[in-house]
Amino acid sequence: MARIRLIEPVTPRLVLRQWRDTDREQFAALNADPVVMEHFPAPLTRAESDAMVDRLTARIDADGYGLWAVEVRDTHEFIGFVGLARPTFETAFTPCTEIGWRLARAAWGQGFATEAASAALDVAFGPLGLDEVLSWTFMGNLASRAVMERLGMTRDPADDFDHPRLPEGDRLRRHVLHRIRGAMPSRPPTSSVEVYPRRLALGYTSTGKCGSQGWPVSTRWLRLLGDEDRRAGDEPAPQR
Ligand SMILES: CC(C)(COP(=O)(O)OP(=O)(O)OC[C@H]1O[C@@H](n2cnc3c(N)ncnc32)[C@H](O)[C@@H]1OP(=O)(O)O)[C@@H](O)C(=O)NCCC(=O)NCCS
Repeated sequence: MARIRLIEPVTPRLVLRQWRDTDREQFAALNADPVVMEHFPAPLTRAESDAMVDRLTARIDADGYGLWAVEVRDTHEFIGFVGLARPTFETAFTPCTEIGWRLARAAWGQGFATEAASAALDVAFGPLGLDEVLSWTFMGNLASRAVMERLGMTRDPADDFDHPRLPEGDRLRRHVLHRIRGAMPSRPPTSSVEVYPRRLALGYTSTGKCGSQGWPVSTRWLRLLGDEDRRAGDEPAPQR
């Protein structure tokens, strides 16, 4: 069976990487913060937070990407997660790939979520070859909606939906849906992102500009072969 390449994007200020046991305490603290968890049904207990780390770690092991742990490069501080996921619930727009984020309060207001999410989109539209990435949140989660907008994602109010995992009458049930396509001119330039899988170094530069906005519209991949040749089918699985 083909081995999955681990993708760990690097941005100017951040690294998106596989989870470590040392992240657990900080992650539990942010999951227990009622302000961070305001738009979720409830804060998480330590056990629930640890179980989430286990699930996210397993997904990245299996697929090579996922909801990565985010670390500040200068300080090596763990600040939360950003990345890609495939929802397990069924609704009009599934199956699909979702982009999501959750950062500790001290890391808000510095552009970290948007910077990390831009890197995740570069992975989605680069090595994963996806056409479209979606994001959704409770209608009242304005901070999360602002990240979607900063990324160039667009919302059609006709796509608004009631989250199927939440019961009728739940305060968080009504959600907005944002979309972005790989070659959309609305996508802001991101591209100092470098992607470093473990054994096969992949880097890319964005080339080409689109119209007056000047957003990158094409991505040129540079493959720097490492200790083994790339084999067909050796990419992370985009979707199941
Ligand atoms: C959603 C969430 C990640 C957004 O974090 P955020 O810090 O507001 O988002 P960004 O990283 O895009 O940062 C943008 C802010 O940083 C500021 N900023 C400072 N330096 C910046 C820089 N170099 N680049 C970009 N923005 C910068 C912007 O002005 C903006 O501030 P403003 O909101 O006061 O206008 C955060 O609120 C969170 O973790 N919430 C709880 C979890 C959650 O709800 N997740 C989503 C569930 S669907």
